[in-house]
Amino acid sequence: MQDELKALADIFYAKIIEFPRKIDMAWIVRALSALGIKDETMEKLYTLNAPISREVWYYLFIKIHESHKLHIFLNALQEKIGTIPLGTLQEKLENLGLVYDGEFKLRYYKVVVLVSGRGTNLQALIDAIESGELNARIVGVISNRKDAAAIQRAKKHGIESYIVPAKKGERREDYDHRLDEIVSKLNPNLIVLAGFLRILSPWFVRKYRGKIINIHPSLLPAFAGLYGEKVHEAVLKRGCKVTGCTVHFVTEDVDDGPIILQKCVEVKEDDTVDKLANRVLKHEHVAIVESVKLLSENRVTIIGKVAKIH
Ligand code: GRF
Repeated sequence: MQDELKALADIFYAKIIEFPRKIDMAWIVRALSALGIKDETMEKLYTLNAPISREVWYYLFIKIHESHKLHIFLNALQEKIGTIPLGTLQEKLENLGLVYDGEFKLRYYKVVVLVSGRGTNLQALIDAIESGELNARIVGVISNRKDAAAIQRAKKHGIESYIVPAKKGERREDYDHRLDEIVSKLNPNLIVLAGFLRILSPWFVRKYRGKIINIHPSLLPAFAGLYGEKVHEAVLKRGCKVTGCTVHFVTEDVDDGPIILQKCVEVKEDDTVDKLANRVLKHEHVAIVESVKLLSENRVTIIGKVAKIH
């Protein structure tokens, strides 16, 4: 049993045994049924008039947590037996996918997407979130170009969007400070560069170290530093037999951060830049969603130059 889940169960257990009349097996069975959870073990214990032992309580917490409804159950418990001081456990609730602000809520992974163009990678993320494949929320889309089609996509899906055009002759870091006025308020868990045609300053990159990822349309470190069609042109010109895409963390050096995920794409004899770009793009859409999913599940650790997936 996960440490945090056990600690949470323990806190509530200490309280419910103080109120044996308020929380009994009958209440639990009713609560489970209200959550749409059918559990024979619990029903059997109820018919046997069994007491709620600590083991039964742990079993219950595991069951409800598995069905992603623990927050509803905890709120119902709170209503019945009063507010429980969570102490230091409150900060660890995130590991259970929960947050607490007087009531228990499902935590969601907050993503900000930076764009400059058509936004098909943004769209892939939106679709994955709307279909439930990705447990995250895009809390803002920011573009340096007001005519970026990506902004229309965000609007269509009710996502807040912001335009931050660069001023003439503006220093990179000054631009990033203006960008950060928005980003810091959105307080994201992750910043995704999805076709954002600006290089971020070391100041910004350091501020959000380990929280910014980029998608690049080649198998890095090959063809680093190029963008758009230029990458595919170079791949064809060099006669590569495979290419692909890379999702990586953003560091101070362009296209050089730890690699999270790569997808390979075969280069065909009759490929043109367009044909190849489109094939790679399809893989990008899969790679970006998979990467954000891995990160949102806390399954990526950076060790030096390597991103380890677990
Ligand atoms: C993609 O090819 C991505 O690899 C690169 O910029 C392009 C963005 O495409 N960084 P889209 O705006 O997501 O359609």
